[in-house]
Amino acid sequence: MHQRLYVNVDHVATIRQARRTDEPDPVAAAALCEEAGADGITAHLREDRRHMQDADIESLARSVRTVFNLEIANTAAMVGLALRLHPFQVTLVPERREEVTTEGGLDVTRDPAGLASSIERLRGAGIRVSLFIDPDATRVRASHALGAHAIELHTGTYAHHPGDGPALAALRDASRIGAGLGLAVHAGHGLTVRNVGPVAAIPEVEELNIGHHLVSRAVFAGLGAAVREMRGAMDAARP
Ligand code: PXP
Repeated sequence: MHQRLYVNVDHVATIRQARRTDEPDPVAAAALCEEAGADGITAHLREDRRHMQDADIESLARSVRTVFNLEIANTAAMVGLALRLHPFQVTLVPERREEVTTEGGLDVTRDPAGLASSIERLRGAGIRVSLFIDPDATRVRASHALGAHAIELHTGTYAHHPGDGPALAALRDASRIGAGLGLAVHAGHGLTVRNVGPVAAIPEVEELNIGHHLVSRAVFAGLGAAVREMRGAMDAARP
């Protein structure tokens, strides 16, 4: 079965925000990813707007031709935005302003009523809802009880401890339990071409969300060409 690759374009915006200019444009990057075979585009609108800006999200919601997976925290403002933009999928993620990235999965046992109500509103609008959780049985079952369509298993621990160890076993077990309950199983965080294999091989995992590594690789795949382009522009200007 084809496993979906959703490309997270947040860090294209991270580079742009380093200069607060208009390049590189994450929306143009999303189109390029789609041309290259991405099955979907993922973006996270963080509370502090450190990478994606509201205008980027609005533009992605209009221009993505595959499907748009919007990552948001479960707040009234973010859920309201999702209801207005109507992405194909919303992935609810935990968020602390001081963290460098999304460090752990959503604590689905905290404020279950609040989560259930957001999930119901999003579902009611015809939006697919995925919950980003750590790979553990209690959280998988709680996600099912809350009415999510899907779970995205946090692969961060595995990414730090790759290989056929306990972290991979936890992902395999959580995937089996989730699929057994009828949940779609997604995974992501910290995946690279070197560590993706064993996660991609888990039969129940139907979608991977990958961002940072792809943008990092793109720098090396493209920097030589960018330097040659600049050399050419300078040489062309010289008498
Ligand atoms: N999935 C979720 C829910 C995330 O929050 C992130 C990071 O934004 C990713 C996947 C992608 O992680 P990475 O950028 O490490 O590939």
